Amino acid sequence: MTQLTATASTALAGKIICPGDKSVSHRSLIFGALAKGKTTITGLLTGDDVLSTASALRQLGVTISEPERNAKGQYIAAVTGVGLGAFAEPAAPLDLGNSGTGARLLMGVIAGSGISAVFTGDASLSKRPMQRIMTPLGRMGAEFTARDGDKLPLTVSGTRAPLSLDWQSPHASAQVKSAVLLAGLTARGKTSVTEPVASRDHTELMLRHFEVDVETTTHSDNSYTASIVGEASLTAADIIVPSDPSSAAFPVVAALITKNSAITVTGVSINPYRFGLYQTLIDMGADITISNQRVEGGEPVADLICKSSRLKGITVPASRAASMIDEYPVLSVAAAYAEGETHMPGIEELRVKETDRIALMEECLRKGGAAVTSTHDSMTVTGASTQDGGMTIDAQHDHRIAMSCLIFGLASARPVTVSGCETINTSFPEFAELMQSIGADIKNEISQNGDSI
Ligand code: S3P
Repeated sequence: MTQLTATASTALAGKIICPGDKSVSHRSLIFGALAKGKTTITGLLTGDDVLSTASALRQLGVTISEPERNAKGQYIAAVTGVGLGAFAEPAAPLDLGNSGTGARLLMGVIAGSGISAVFTGDASLSKRPMQRIMTPLGRMGAEFTARDGDKLPLTVSGTRAPLSLDWQSPHASAQVKSAVLLAGLTARGKTSVTEPVASRDHTELMLRHFEVDVETTTHSDNSYTASIVGEASLTAADIIVPSDPSSAAFPVVAALITKNSAITVTGVSINPYRFGLYQTLIDMGADITISNQRVEGGEPVADLICKSSRLKGITVPASRAASMIDEYPVLSVAAAYAEGETHMPGIEELRVKETDRIALMEECLRKGGAAVTSTHDSMTVTGASTQDGGMTIDAQHDHRIAMSCLIFGLASARPVTVSGCETINTSFPEFAELMQSIGADIKNEISQNGDSI
């Protein structure tokens, strides 16, 4: 068990690069596997979630090279695609670890192929609901057996000739949208997914990059439809993965809430479907300059210059939730140090992430002295210029809870200790080292015999 302690810090400074985007990394491996030819990925995230997807794909007969670092420190890997419908049936269960994205997207792929696979995962993934993808994929012809109805371990028996589907998703979920579109790639005719508000569009962008036609429409009520025509084929294409805005969120909030800080985070994706946190922080008065905007590998990226700021509480529009769904834990930390009340409505999806993030963040922030209330779909934090801290938290297999609590500890009066920090490797390997490089006091505790705990 890795235990980290964050102690009050000031004057964070420096220019840093955050790791590759998790959503784009999963998709680059999966879409590369479905394409004919070789896809070289530059900037791949080598977090545990993405490595779980890579090893599941290898079990399905795909060749993926071991990621190697280039001179800029980015990881490069090559995928030799097998083409649609050509996966080998895996002899052993596919263990997706902590990764909801890996599990749900691969279930979509298996559903539209003629093979069966058993999916397993860690304690957190085994509690997460799969009905949201079982229903549409079932209508397309796949069959499922799952523990407790819709939990892992779960077996998907795919069909070689899935039915096309026009799916009205009740959730703004990129995982649901992607699973259905992936199954639709081998169906005859048009498969569409409509969601109440557009979720991240990396699947649509990457399918186009692999030469599949994708039609997208945003309707007048803000709902959104993405469609593909099946019996498609994907052509391999190299990918450049931008830095993950969900990971950059941690050093950015750290710089805002600590005194005399000024940092630059370079090459961060500013994809509009991922930008909600940054817009919200700017609305709260954050000193964030978006500079050097450019397009890299088909995704808009920028350098973010972030300075200590006096934040003010606001009501975050519920319509923004999908574009910042993974960032509410760290936003609630920023809110704890803001003046006044920050109200976050429309966030019921947080209850079915790696943990119930509304419940756990409420508990953590309260332990640290902050005033928090919640309902089934909202959280309200009343901020103060200082917070007590002094708490010990168990990360409960949730990387974003672990990192959020450590960021809280960088501005609190007493240190914050988080156990179970190995979960941070899920999305942000080298988090502690990167934070230390800008002057944040985040340390692995050393026991009396000199071993790290
Ligand atoms: C993701 C979609 C989101 C997000 C997750 C990554 C993706 O989940 O929370 O971290 O890459 O498609 P939902 O689709 O459940 O909203």
